[in-house]
Amino acid sequence: QEVHAAEFERTFIAVKPDGVQRGLSHRNCGVMRCGNHSTTILQPPMRDAISEIISRFERKGYKLVGIKVVVPTKEFAGKHYHALKDKPFFNGLSEFLSSGPVVAMVWEGEGVITYGRKLIGATDPQKSEPGTIRGDLAVVVGRNIIHGSDGPETAKDEINLWFKPEELVSFTSNAEKWIY
Ligand code: PPS
Repeated sequence: QEVHAAEFERTFIAVKPDGVQRGLSHRNCGVMRCGNHSTTILQPPMRDAISEIISRFERKGYKLVGIKVVVPTKEFAGKHYHALKDKPFFNGLSEFLSSGPVVAMVWEGEGVITYGRKLIGATDPQKSEPGTIRGDLAVVVGRNIIHGSDGPETAKDEINLWFKPEELVSFTSNAEKWIY
């Protein structure tokens, strides 16, 4: 069976330190009873941005072919953002990316570079539509929780910068074997 080349399109997606360390996942959810009062406080089930981001890409139908948690050095972050080195925010942005753990991922599938950017939403969370990752989960541009490659060349460069070839897998779905 012939496999369409577009299915092997890959993009680099990173949950940035603000997406990893929102602390939302540490909140309790469930029922709290307070003293003699019969008041029941239901806290909403809070989820961190990592699981939310992964599930949005999965639900769309894209395939996760590489993932790791890293704290990049500032020098490495500077390499990642090298195209922005003349921007006034370059230093701050590189410092921010290296300020904590980043979840680096490679996602695969037809149209994943462009559609991935659609799932992510506009750079400025004030302008990202509701329903997009940044529209739903972020507020300001310097803390927009996720990065996604902006084109095929960038995707290739960023995947090569963050991953060794052996850290990426190639597989076809085994789902038919597991569902009975
Ligand atoms: S630009 O300015 O046209 O290059 O913008 P864009 O391609 O959308 O964004 C590139 C990355 O720069 C980040 N960015 C900023 N960070 C801090 N402050 C300001 N004002 C700012 N503007 C853009 C933006 O979030 C992009 O980072 P990543 O990690 O790729 O999302």
